[in-house]
Amino acid sequence: MAIIQFPKDMKWGSATASYQIEGAAFKDGRGLSIWDTFSHTPGKVVGGDNGDVACDSYHRYEEDIEIMKDLGIDMYRFSVSWPRIFPNGTGEINPKGLAYYHDLVDKLIESGIEPMCTLYHWDLPQALQDEGGWDNRETIDAFVNYAETMFNEFKGKIKYWITLNEPWCISFLSNYIGAHAPGYTDLQLATQISHHLLVAHGKTVKKFRELDIEGEIGFAPNTTWLEPYSNKQEDIDACRRENAYFIEWFMDPVFKGEYPQFMVDWFKKKGVELNIEDGDLEAIHQPIDFLGINYYTGHVARYKEDEGLFDWEYVEMGYERTDIDWPVYPEGFYKVLTYINDRYGNVPIYITENGSCYNDEPVDGRVKDAARTKYLKQHLTALSRSIDAGVNIKGYLTWSLLDNFEWAEGYSKRFGIVYVDYITQKRTKKDSFYWYKQTIANKWFEF
Ligand code: BGC
Repeated sequence: MAIIQFPKDMKWGSATASYQIEGAAFKDGRGLSIWDTFSHTPGKVVGGDNGDVACDSYHRYEEDIEIMKDLGIDMYRFSVSWPRIFPNGTGEINPKGLAYYHDLVDKLIESGIEPMCTLYHWDLPQALQDEGGWDNRETIDAFVNYAETMFNEFKGKIKYWITLNEPWCISFLSNYIGAHAPGYTDLQLATQISHHLLVAHGKTVKKFRELDIEGEIGFAPNTTWLEPYSNKQEDIDACRRENAYFIEWFMDPVFKGEYPQFMVDWFKKKGVELNIEDGDLEAIHQPIDFLGINYYTGHVARYKEDEGLFDWEYVEMGYERTDIDWPVYPEGFYKVLTYINDRYGNVPIYITENGSCYNDEPVDGRVKDAARTKYLKQHLTALSRSIDAGVNIKGYLTWSLLDNFEWAEGYSKRFGIVYVDYITQKRTKKDSFYWYKQTIANKWFEF
């Protein structure tokens, strides 16, 4: 038994995203997003599921805030549905969309919960996709305009802003691997989009400074960690490429104002020519107030010629797997955090997502999700080790408050600490919820 203790001023929270929980997809003037289109396209989402109703949080946010109050969180991270604010992505504002987020934010503040707002968690207005989406540089301007509207509207209320959630997913997962909306499989397109996203991020940060908004702004890349199977140089290099696909590719331009050359060269070998316009790198290279880190899984891998994009293969190590088949690898969380700390200096970090998929169902009104609690203990222990190693951790937000629409997996995968019955919309707090609540109250746990 050991006591794992956290700093007194560390913030605790949980996270969700608009399309995954809100529902009310056609209500109060909301425009369509690429996820409406994608999920309504046969064959794209498991079970033909869509976010039309989801957790119905658009109508039930007050009940959800009651749940948060019981949990005792300091912070709630949610995202804004861009097409609720601008049904066409730009142009006319939808006042009912703004009103919904005012109600939500006011209620959070009244409840003593700090709102952390993600501006983009993947629901691009379909009208912008029709004009080329993130491949079209006009989408960058539309995003900055939408962000400016939100800053002006919510200044003084929302103090923590995140520009983009997981730019790797927005670019490569959605436009090269094709698993997410809009579902393309084009490496050149995906890589160019990754660049446009960073420009949009940087210009938004610049706008935030110009407007002199009180508060902090950052972005939230997703990370993973591949540990080389051996100390052979080819294994080390292969893992380095894959890690850099998530870390350096998105963070070097922000923190250093340049892309990692070894990755540019690798992409070139794969036929990719990145088009960088004058002033782009300068625009991206804006100081941010904090970095959001999302971490779920990692693995051990070794070099394999012509395997995938970066020439490596997993080596089965017998790690436990969650119900979405992702290996449980808390050591990778520690590695990611210490690596980032060493590479980019002592940047303040919020863990904006960490959590696990286990599909336990209620039995006699109770959900015994012991595996989720174990996952949380393992990852919070890794986090505590990283704090001891000098990483500047400001807060930890678990994914997710509620079971929700898990993108291409539909409702078949549950990540919540609160169970949602999608037919009755009844919420049931899982055992992990009660464990997390106790940990937040104590700021320590026993492992
Ligand atoms: C995303 C969430 C998602 C979670 C689990 C992250 O990639 O930000 O929206 O539900 O991981 O897959």
